Amino acid sequence: MNKNITFKALKEEHFLLLLKWLETPHVKLWWDADINWTPELIEKKYSNYVKGFKRLKLKTQIIEKPMHAFIINCDGVDIGYIQYYNKHDFPPEQGYDTSELPESCAAIDWYIGELDYVGKGIGPQALNIFLNEFVFKVSENAFVDSDTANVRAIRVYEKVGFKKIRESNGTILMIKARIPENHAR
Ligand SMILES: CC(C)(COP(=O)(O)OP(=O)(O)OC[C@H]1O[C@@H](n2cnc3c(N)ncnc32)[C@H](O)[C@@H]1OP(=O)(O)O)[C@@H](O)C(=O)NCCC(=O)NCCS
Repeated sequence: MNKNITFKALKEEHFLLLLKWLETPHVKLWWDADINWTPELIEKKYSNYVKGFKRLKLKTQIIEKPMHAFIINCDGVDIGYIQYYNKHDFPPEQGYDTSELPESCAAIDWYIGELDYVGKGIGPQALNIFLNEFVFKVSENAFVDSDTANVRAIRVYEKVGFKKIRESNGTILMIKARIPENHAR
């Protein structure tokens, strides 16, 4: 049965939830596995997201670009985290080439942190709503990357209509185009 899925902008009041979720094994497997999250680290990284940007320090430059961060709510319960940003604003952590991606391309990262809500079909529904309510309002394409071993995430992306572009060093790159309005009618 369809759930009532909504999204709210990330605020400081959600930081303890992020800390809990990021240290939950099923999330840690695929998200920032090398970081031991503390309240201070969460504050340092995500307080900028609350303000709508991400600051990334590279060897020779500092990148400061928009980051749109949300909490996923299911039937009144905060269950996870989702973000989108311009794929061309930040170099991918996995180091693959992004020059072939379309100019208008929003990247999405997410997780359902509450274990009771994982594996119940909520992911595809939530991602579909998020694409239509947010991502496709500003971008012609939605992009995701995933570890090739993350079969559950890849299955969700396929169900939502993402198509594989290629694989690169254990990462699968997938894209979904916004359906033009005259085709959607
Ligand atoms: C990825 C995630 C958001 C998916 O949402 P979800 O609601 O749990 O996904 P679903 O319950 O719809 O499961 C998706 C599909 O994977 C299948 N699946 C579940 N566990 C699986 C497993 N261990 N192996 C293979 N397939 C699996 C399900 O059967 C389902 O396919 P089906 O509907 O055809 O049966 C969620 O699992 C999650 O947060 N995982 C941890 C963080 C993460 O991986 N984030 C994405 C990073 S790229």
